[in-house]
Amino acid sequence: MPETSQDASSYQQANQAVGFLKDRLPAELQTPRVAIVCGSGLGGLASTIRDHPRAEYDYGSIPHFPKLTVPGHAGKLVFGFLGENIPVVLMVGRAHYYEGHSIHQVTFPIRVFKQLGVDTVVLTNAAGGLDPEYAVGDIVLLNDATKHIFLSGLAGTHPLRGPNDDDFGPRFPPLSDAYDLELRRHVHKAWRTVVDPQSNRRLHEGVYAYVGGPSYETRAECRMLRQLGADVVGMSTVPEIVVARHCGIRVLALSLVTNKAVLTPVPRGDDSILEGKDMKELDAILQKGKANHEEVLEAGRAAAIDMQQLVVRVVSNMVNQ
Ligand code: HPA
Repeated sequence: MPETSQDASSYQQANQAVGFLKDRLPAELQTPRVAIVCGSGLGGLASTIRDHPRAEYDYGSIPHFPKLTVPGHAGKLVFGFLGENIPVVLMVGRAHYYEGHSIHQVTFPIRVFKQLGVDTVVLTNAAGGLDPEYAVGDIVLLNDATKHIFLSGLAGTHPLRGPNDDDFGPRFPPLSDAYDLELRRHVHKAWRTVVDPQSNRRLHEGVYAYVGGPSYETRAECRMLRQLGADVVGMSTVPEIVVARHCGIRVLALSLVTNKAVLTPVPRGDDSILEGKDMKELDAILQKGKANHEEVLEAGRAAAIDMQQLVVRVVSNMVNQ
């Protein structure tokens, strides 16, 4: 990876990454219109890209790109055509803050997309359902940048911290009026044509709470997030939304509910219902509903096809309307 000085601005670094890509990409793939970020277990979206022309680059080979460390997250950019003729770039696997990357590194790819000429980004992720009505396998449409809770951002761990990169956007970007109603309308319309009406899978619109991870939330934290108005919780996407909105990229964000966050309190140690229970039974009470990474990947696999078809249909309708 080429060296750059510590103080190279993110604008310069993004341009270096773009220079690297443009030197290698065939002419017809050089200006993707839409970027699609594939969350945990949703990398199968790459199979929806036509085989020719197509180009792939590991993050490790691209200047300044963060390298991934989580099992189940691949780490490559795939350039190609979606549907008939839509030039896209897919990010198969994303970097997370909990891996040790800075919040600026995590969001760097979004700025590379901007410099490549991308005007819309579709962000997908796996999330825990906080709304008791949500089932595993349901899909939640985030109401663009207006509908998230970014606790760490509010507290200062923010991807736009530091000298403002005026080349990308203003110092104090608003996030309160960034609705992209049109993109969300496309999702609702596409949903009816993609998802089997007999299926139990449902589409919701909801609020995403961003947490740093990597531990899943305690019951008390889940209840707090729910009381704050969150419907799903996850460890990604919001920093990317903020950086995309800062530089004027339209955003569509979809969460796949891969587990139900546990809100119910556990009994106190002196609760009478524990009377006469052995260690195994006590353990079973604690284990009920516990989130784990395997479960998240498995739910992703099962629902991934619907999610893929939804994204393909939405992007095709959006570009060809
Ligand atoms: N919490 C945080 N992140 C997640 C979860 C969760 O329950 N499920 C998938 N990603």
